[in-house]
Amino acid sequence: MQGAYFSAADPDTVTYQADNLICIDNSGYIAAIVTPQDSDYAAILATAQKQDCLIQLSTQQVVLPGFIDLHIHAPQWPNAGVALDRPLEEWLNVYTFPLEAQYQDANFAQQVYADLVQELLAQGTTTALYFGSVHNQGNLALAQACLKYQQRGFIGKVVMDNPEQTPANYRDESAAQALQATQSFIEQLQQLNQTTRISLTPVITPRFLPSCSDEALAGLGQLAHHYNLPIQSHCSESDWENGYALQHYHQRDAQVLNRFGLLNNKAVMAHGTLLNEDDLNLFQQQGVAIAHCPISNVYFGNAILPTKTILQKQIKMGLGTDISGGYSASLYQNIRQAVISAHQRHDGVDGQINALNRGTQDEFLTIKNAFYLATLGGARSLQLPTGQIKVGCYADLQIVHNNWTTWQSETPAMRFEKLMYHTDKNNIDQVLVQGQIIQKKE
Ligand code: GUN
Ligand code: FE
Repeated sequence: MQGAYFSAADPDTVTYQADNLICIDNSGYIAAIVTPQDSDYAAILATAQKQDCLIQLSTQQVVLPGFIDLHIHAPQWPNAGVALDRPLEEWLNVYTFPLEAQYQDANFAQQVYADLVQELLAQGTTTALYFGSVHNQGNLALAQACLKYQQRGFIGKVVMDNPEQTPANYRDESAAQALQATQSFIEQLQQLNQTTRISLTPVITPRFLPSCSDEALAGLGQLAHHYNLPIQSHCSESDWENGYALQHYHQRDAQVLNRFGLLNNKAVMAHGTLLNEDDLNLFQQQGVAIAHCPISNVYFGNAILPTKTILQKQIKMGLGTDISGGYSASLYQNIRQAVISAHQRHDGVDGQINALNRGTQDEFLTIKNAFYLATLGGARSLQLPTGQIKVGCYADLQIVHNNWTTWQSETPAMRFEKLMYHTDKNNIDQVLVQGQIIQKKE
């Protein structure tokens, strides 16, 4: 591939190259990056042209790493944009659980998941960490959709067995049944994974503390350890959830999850808007990642995540759409919201309502920071060699074009910012997952 690209090197640094050749090997890794100064540049370019495998970008186009959606509820896709004015508990019980219950119909699951996976790929998302539903047939349909449309999928069978916090038509029958179903999903997915080019990974998925019994939480901690698998859940997302842990366990959300062996360096915890300093220190110590879901948090989080502090503490963090707590499948939209929300954040000097308590420069997130979260931050959270245009990474790439009229000379830095603020799926021209073009506009 020949053309301009941007790639995050760390949270504050985005590198730009104008004319490098990105060489992709047969397994879909970036095998070499050749600069115009390299002596073999012309020969490699000529060979690729001769073999008819060169993707040559126009001056309007640029390559970016594919995005990683670090938190998304696949079965909630039909509700994206619905009932966002309701508080979390009501939104779950009245709108979300009844929809998720419908995925006992594997045919429905197959149709929705085919639509969702294609939409995410069209939005530039090449890897996703999915919450499925409680139903394994439906969850396998999601795996099949990833396989068919070639997206790297991390998929969890949702565990929710607490009859006090879940409806009768949508829950695991018992902790034992939930654990058994989780184990069987793990084994089925691992078997399927042996046949795939792009990996499918099962994920241990206690929905959140209110929906799980202690027995289920303990068993899931053991399964995570036994199979050495990633873990995902929601942690300190809202006043209600945070309060549930305090009331029920007399401990904080994070402490309880940790006690059950669910906070380790393969764990990704969504939201975390109400995590306190001790919780963040625990995350740092245990290597836990945070899936920041800035759009969803505006509606349900009851606070703005202190993203700048989290980056400074070097806690792993990526971006999630949280469909359908968030309305948009686009990580570009979430990049923008992450920056906007950080500008609105105010810790307040005195805890009083005060118009002068507002976001300060050191709390602001830059657009580079947010791009890092959608790419390398997500990759590091999942311990994956992706999210960067770099030798040894998967060639998970999106080719986008400027969709504005240029009225002045634009530096690469200006172009990068404008791309982050203006790109939508209409100007994503091609998407590659592990070296293969899986979406292409003519
Ligand atoms: N907490 C438990 N389940 C959910 C969910 O589906 N979405 C969000 N945003 N929070 C949750
Ligand atoms: Fe969520």
